[in-house]
Amino acid sequence: MSSVPDENTSFQPAPNPSIAEAQAPRAAGRGHVLVIGNEKGGSGKSTTALHIAVALMTDGIRVATLDLDARQGTLTRYLENRAAYARRKGIELPMPQHWAVPISTLNDRSAAEADERARLEAALEPAVVGSDFVIVDTPGSDTHLSRLAHTWADSLLTPLNDSFIDLDLLARVDPDTLKIVRPSIYAEQVWKQRQIRAVQGGRPVDWVVMRNRLSALAARNKRDMSKVIDALSRRIGFRVAAGLSERVIYKELFLNGLTLLDLKRGGTGPSLTLSHVAARQEVRDLVAALNLPLGVETPPPVEAEAQPHQPEPESLPEDAPETETATEGPPPGE
Ligand SMILES: Nc1ncnc2c1ncn2[C@@H]1O[C@H](COP(=O)(O)OP(=O)(O)O)[C@@H](O)[C@H]1O
Ligand SMILES: [Mg+2]
Repeated sequence: MSSVPDENTSFQPAPNPSIAEAQAPRAAGRGHVLVIGNEKGGSGKSTTALHIAVALMTDGIRVATLDLDARQGTLTRYLENRAAYARRKGIELPMPQHWAVPISTLNDRSAAEADERARLEAALEPAVVGSDFVIVDTPGSDTHLSRLAHTWADSLLTPLNDSFIDLDLLARVDPDTLKIVRPSIYAEQVWKQRQIRAVQGGRPVDWVVMRNRLSALAARNKRDMSKVIDALSRRIGFRVAAGLSERVIYKELFLNGLTLLDLKRGGTGPSLTLSHVAARQEVRDLVAALNLPLGVETPPPVEAEAQPHQPEPESLPEDAPETETATEGPPPGE
């Protein structure tokens, strides 16, 4: 697949730069950083961040969370509500190690940026060292802190409300043909952060876009969105995850700091209905689609002492697969 240069774009992303066929294992002793980002508020970043955190912790995985939207502080608040609920009910709920990083109050711009960088790194370093996954919730606006966080992302998840208003941050779309006119601001921002990360020698980021608040109605809008998102994913290089349906339960859970993963039949919080079971499956499917590296990189083996020569077997064992001829480059016909 090759991307055709477009005069209207100020950048030319490489074709599918982020589509990771297989995630590299985590470096031993370093957590994998998952940034939840979208410059649009209300797309479900904080809700998704906590749901993914709890889904991982439920499987015994160590998670740290960072709230870079400290002004709104939704994730921080969500966790405070969660701790208070557990205290009130005398129950144990899995809790991540959490940091809130507010924007700098310094007036001078470069001093403020240096201050933010220092404070972000002061939170990220212990989070990365002390956990398997670090989930970073970002604000719904283009801030210096948010840009910095994007350069740390091993995986980037962008929740997108199922609406062309939200899609507008990723691409301008022709209303008649639904063709992509050009990628827009957030796509460009991600591309720039990827470049910075590449220069710093980081691994390529795996960018996943998920659709949120999918309605059971609105079939036509859903279909049109699918069409455009699929085309866009090839154009600017992200994977698409199925996402979450629109459900009132997400709003109800916030006050008690709960997630769908915490609900048990006759147990914690609101009683579990069939619709909640389906919703919980969507969260689990989303986590699976992220393809997070659960395994840890094994260090390269120490140079072995010279081994005595092993004679080659004279013939292949009966059930050995046929040797494949390695082919470099595209298959014939491309
Ligand atoms: N799948 C969903 N169904 C229904 N409401 C949702 C869903 N996802 C998020 N919400 C609600 O949308 C609002 C914005 O979500 P939030 O996670 O705070 O977004 P962001 O962090 O991107 O601003 C909240 O009221 C939240 O409860
Ligand atoms: Mg938020």
